[in-house]
Amino acid sequence: MPRLKYASVARVVVILGLFCLWLQIMLSASSGGMYRDGDYTNKAWESQINDPFEGTNPSLTDSKSVKQILQNQEELMNANETSEQVLALVPPELHKYLTVHPRNITANSTEKIATKNITEIVRAITRYNDAQMVYNEDIFGPVTNDTIIIAIQVHTRLTYLRHLIVSLAQARDIDRTLLIFSHDYYDEEINALVRTIDFTKVMQIFYPYSIQTHPREFPGMDPNDCPRDAKFEQAVKLKCNNALHPDLHGHYREAKYTQTKHHWWWKANRIFNQLSCTNGHTGMVVFLEEDHYVAEDFIHMLSLLKSTADRSCPHCEILSLGTYLKTYQYHVNSDKRKKHQNLNYIQQVRSANEQRRKNEPQSWNFQLYPNLYTHTQKVEITPWHSSMHNMGFAFNRTVWNNIMELQEQFCEYDDYNWDYSLLHLSQNRPGKEKFKVIVCKGPRVFHIGECGFHHKKSNCNASTVISKVQKLLQNAKPYMYPSRVTASVTAGGAKHNKKLVKGNGGWGDIRDRELCANMTQIGRQPRRNVYYA
Ligand SMILES: *[C@@H]1O[C@H](CO)[C@@H](O)[C@H](O)[C@H]1NC(C)=O
Ligand SMILES: *[C@@H]1O[C@H](CO)[C@@H](O)[C@H](O)[C@H]1NC(C)=O
Ligand SMILES: *[C@@H]1O[C@H](CO)[C@@H](O)[C@H](O)[C@H]1NC(C)=O
Ligand SMILES: *[C@@H]1O[C@H](CO)[C@@H](O)[C@H](O)[C@H]1NC(C)=O
Ligand SMILES: *[C@@H]1O[C@H](CO)[C@@H](O)[C@H](O)[C@H]1NC(C)=O
Ligand SMILES: *[C@@H]1O[C@H](CO)[C@@H](O)[C@H](O)[C@H]1NC(C)=O
Ligand SMILES: *[C@@H]1O[C@H](CO)[C@@H](O)[C@H](O)[C@H]1NC(C)=O
Ligand SMILES: *[C@@H]1O[C@H](CO)[C@@H](O)[C@H](O)[C@H]1NC(C)=O
Repeated sequence: MPRLKYASVARVVVILGLFCLWLQIMLSASSGGMYRDGDYTNKAWESQINDPFEGTNPSLTDSKSVKQILQNQEELMNANETSEQVLALVPPELHKYLTVHPRNITANSTEKIATKNITEIVRAITRYNDAQMVYNEDIFGPVTNDTIIIAIQVHTRLTYLRHLIVSLAQARDIDRTLLIFSHDYYDEEINALVRTIDFTKVMQIFYPYSIQTHPREFPGMDPNDCPRDAKFEQAVKLKCNNALHPDLHGHYREAKYTQTKHHWWWKANRIFNQLSCTNGHTGMVVFLEEDHYVAEDFIHMLSLLKSTADRSCPHCEILSLGTYLKTYQYHVNSDKRKKHQNLNYIQQVRSANEQRRKNEPQSWNFQLYPNLYTHTQKVEITPWHSSMHNMGFAFNRTVWNNIMELQEQFCEYDDYNWDYSLLHLSQNRPGKEKFKVIVCKGPRVFHIGECGFHHKKSNCNASTVISKVQKLLQNAKPYMYPSRVTASVTAGGAKHNKKLVKGNGGWGDIRDRELCANMTQIGRQPRRNVYYA
């Protein structure tokens, strides 16, 4: 039986392959390039499965561990993990971004800026958000309608953020962009770092509904909220706040897991709809996160993707620069891969997650890298898929307006992952196809944070990964700044096209849905300077 299935799968693959080859020839004929490539059929399996169940920690029931996790989470990650090796490949003038200033404990109260109480934090956040200050505008000129905006979602992982800034500083044409740092954790050390950036325009925005500023009320954890694992009847009897609204798995909300989706949504709304400097902005907004790392030609590639899309794929709504560093050992261990192929999508993700949790050996697949050099000039046009194209992706206001029209698909969908919610939206566009993405096969954005977070115990620290990425990029230097690219059109793997039926849960609470909807109601706000005594 499996043999039979295999044969039919193989037939489909061959047919798809031929179709793709034909399309590609048509396309490369029109864009001047000519190249053959039939290797994308297995790409979906090589790519990391971005785990929607990540964090659904089974031990969360016991309140001690909840507290501990929250504590860990809120702890600013700001160790000096920069090894000599990494430092050696950073230009000396950028070392300042990697310098960790230990908190000055001996300073007296007037100088102890790092310990604001919540009232003060809320005030500071309001002040920042009202002022909409663009730093360095005097040096690099005002924000224009086509300025590339790079939106960076920042939580507490300062070590990684330092390296992202170092990578941005080295990117060509970075001085023509606007970096918008969007914070859900207010911290003077993070702010101080961001304000030292002197290579382009910078703005900071602060997510105003954070757990940090709402520790004991929604959207944080209200003491009267139902425990995650309470049974429905039990919750109703308890009369806890959200008793009637568990998620599709029967669990109650966990503040820290909902925050990321809220923050992502708020940030996008803030940038497109609320800031005064983006009124009339028609250019690209690139979405990055604090633990990403960019290649020096990423802006060049973005323009190239854009011009390729304009010419060959006017309906490609999304540009994507990224890929995941890590892949599971599918290519090495073919048995495991076969096993995975027989599972449905959700089962695969669960199984990959299980594997990760059990700390089974996973390879950091740097063998993939030599491919990068031959892939620098190749781009792929394919349906957008959350887990593969959620890193370093970009779109403009026209696309945002499309998303806004279907905002309930995002806000009402019972999934705490912003990227799966966006996929759900993409798959449910009345009368329209799924979003299409044009993506670099040679990645220009890397995820350096995966390692340090999940592998504290293993010998996998920030420096190890950053060092690998640095070397990779150095070796790839001769292949950067391609003057043109060749595009191949693919239908995407089965995984891409699998229609999401149910969400991953975590978004059953009506308060979350309401807050999400409320965020879209706020209109354009003029810059305002409010001084507090
Ligand atoms: C990171 O790991 C490498 C080995 O993988 C080790 O040599 C280095 O000292 C570690 N650095 C830190 C800061 O732990
Ligand atoms: C961080 O660690 C590296 C190597 O251990 C050292 O060379 C560097 O001076 C340290 N930086 C700071 C700011 O402490
Ligand atoms: C800490 O604060 C004290 C008192 O203001 C000051 O003398 C000292 O230089 C500071 N130390 C550092 C490392 O900034
Ligand atoms: C705190 O700082 C003020 C002014 O800088 C100084 O007069 C005072 O002596 C300091 N107090 C302590 C305990 O260091
Ligand atoms: C927080 O700081 C403000 C002003 O510095 C003060 O008025 C207020 O009492 C403080 N609140 C708490 C809870 O400590
Ligand atoms: C930017 O866009 C706005 C709104 O579309 C328009 O009024 C304005 O003239 C544009 N600015 C420039 C410099 O083109
Ligand atoms: C935004 O992108 C879409 C899809 O790529 C394109 O059709 C549209 O013309 C772009 N809008 C602007 C204002 O450039
Ligand atoms: C949403 O906005 C409405 C109207 O302003 C308000 O009553 C409600 O409390 C808000 N809900 C949340 C969850 O913020």
